[in-house]
Amino acid sequence: MAGLRYIAPALAVAAGAAAQACGGGSGTTTIQSNADATGLSNCQTYSGSIAIATGTTDSIQLSGITSISGSLVANNVTDMTSLAADSLQEIGEEFNLNGLTVLSTLNFPALKKVDTIEWIALPALQGLSFTAGVEEINMLTIDNTQLGSLDGINLQVADTVSVTNNPYLTSVNMQLGNVTKSLTFGANGRDLEIEFPNLIWAYNLTFRNCSDISLPSLASINGSLGFYSNGFKSLSAPNLTSVGGSLSFVSCEEVTNITLPELTTIGGGFLVANNTALEDIDGFSALKTVGGALDFNGAFTNVSLPDLSDVRGAFNLQSTKDIDDACSYFQPLSGQNNVIKGEYTCKGEESNPQGTGTLEPGTNSGSGSSSSTTSSSAAYPMLIPGATGVLGVVAAIFGLL
Ligand SMILES: *[C@@H]1O[C@H](CO)[C@@H](O)[C@H](O)[C@H]1NC(C)=O
Ligand SMILES: *[C@@H]1O[C@H](CO)[C@@H](O)[C@H](O)[C@H]1NC(C)=O
Ligand SMILES: *[C@@H]1O[C@H](CO)[C@@H](O)[C@H](O)[C@H]1NC(C)=O
Ligand SMILES: *[C@@H]1O[C@H](CO)[C@@H](O)[C@H](O)[C@H]1NC(C)=O
Ligand SMILES: *[C@@H]1O[C@H](CO)[C@@H](O)[C@H](O)[C@H]1NC(C)=O
Ligand SMILES: *[C@@H]1O[C@H](CO)[C@@H](O)[C@H](O)[C@H]1NC(C)=O
Ligand SMILES: *[C@@H]1O[C@H](CO)[C@@H](O)[C@H](O)[C@H]1NC(C)=O
Ligand SMILES: *[C@@H]1O[C@H](CO)[C@@H](O)[C@H](O)[C@H]1NC(C)=O
Ligand SMILES: *[C@@H]1O[C@H](CO)[C@@H](O)[C@H](O)[C@H]1NC(C)=O
Repeated sequence: MAGLRYIAPALAVAAGAAAQACGGGSGTTTIQSNADATGLSNCQTYSGSIAIATGTTDSIQLSGITSISGSLVANNVTDMTSLAADSLQEIGEEFNLNGLTVLSTLNFPALKKVDTIEWIALPALQGLSFTAGVEEINMLTIDNTQLGSLDGINLQVADTVSVTNNPYLTSVNMQLGNVTKSLTFGANGRDLEIEFPNLIWAYNLTFRNCSDISLPSLASINGSLGFYSNGFKSLSAPNLTSVGGSLSFVSCEEVTNITLPELTTIGGGFLVANNTALEDIDGFSALKTVGGALDFNGAFTNVSLPDLSDVRGAFNLQSTKDIDDACSYFQPLSGQNNVIKGEYTCKGEESNPQGTGTLEPGTNSGSGSSSSTTSSSAAYPMLIPGATGVLGVVAAIFGLL
């Protein structure tokens, strides 16, 4: 910061009449007032990074700059209420905002491309003014804000998306076609409705505490797909044919209808647990192969898997209801050289239905049929009730918070 007094006036002088390239290359310029920001206004392309000093109290308006080759960073600037950049289209590296207690306005009407967005602890930020809409981001993290929507962030392409602890967030709709690493939503607004109309494939997808999820185009998942504690009444993925790792539906207490009619292969385990309103597990009519364990426990009465032809791990059905019909259908399919190769368990009218303990959510390697779920359940086809499963879920949940 010490050098700043010299930098800003020097730039202002050098800038002259015409817009130009400037900045310190790989260095970071720290600004601490709006006058400093104005001093950069003739830098059309800014080479290097810009940071906003912790003690800044002014509203900052970065005018004129169309691209920043490095990062734009504001950490612990607890008195700044507004940050704006009217012409900025691209940030080459990171756009980091962390611990901006009173920031309520973020106005970036031209921004389209950023490598990494990390916005954490912005308790006064309720909306974005991003008119052009950011379309390209490698990594997006939004945690602990008051944003009600992500309008202005309409990604077409992303590697990693994590949106957690934004209690006012009620709608998300992005044009994403694929997610090459992972996408996670959790502990946002209770009524969060998520739409990914064009999402065709993703590596890992995890949804917690969402009220509605629409994935009409989803065709494949390389790793795992998990739904935990969501409030939806029904979930469908009409085009999904394969999940390379595990598929989990856990504690979605209002769901009555899960329909994945084209799903044929699950490379890892298949867990359906504690979805207390789910009576009929009959939406998997094309499912043939489960590479790991199949573990259903809850309060269901009907289980229909008419095409099931290969379960390489354990098979566990346990319900508080009478499931004699299901047990009589599956029992003849069990045995070493039969459809169900691992330990077979089928129990109805259980006061405390248990899982196999072999399928802790989120532990599947996502590497398909050679996953550890497969080998462990095949090698030790014993029931290991409860405990590890609970810890796994608790850990997975708190890991997020
Ligand atoms: C922000 O402040 C917190 C707590 O005062 C501190 O732990 C953290 O390191 C600061 N972050 C930065 C980037 O200065
Ligand atoms: C990923 O999605 C983007 C945007 O829809 C598309 O341009 C790109 O071709 C897709 N890549 C792959 C490998 O599917
Ligand atoms: C996908 O999820 C699995 C299980 O949580 C994890 O081991 C793996 O690293 C994730 N892969 C990516 C690319 O995020
Ligand atoms: C989200 O779900 C978890 C369980 O998966 C639950 O413990 C937590 O209270 C929920 N959070 C919110 C904000 O609803
Ligand atoms: C579903 O898959 C079919 C066949 O691959 C394709 O023609 C159709 O457009 C897909 N539907 C959606 C909503 O993506
Ligand atoms: C994930 O699946 C998509 C679609 O099938 C494929 O294009 C992509 O290469 C896969 N990614 C990895 C890392 O296996
Ligand atoms: C379940 O959902 C599917 C797909 O949305 C729908 O076609 C079907 O009619 C629903 N079934 C019931 C019993 O509501
Ligand atoms: C459950 O299955 C039984 C026998 O197959 C059928 O009579 C009954 O209607 C089903 N229950 C529901 C709620 O679909
Ligand atoms: C389902 O609930 C029971 C009882 O609360 C618990 O023991 C079990 O671990 C839960 N299963 C999962 C997969 O969360």
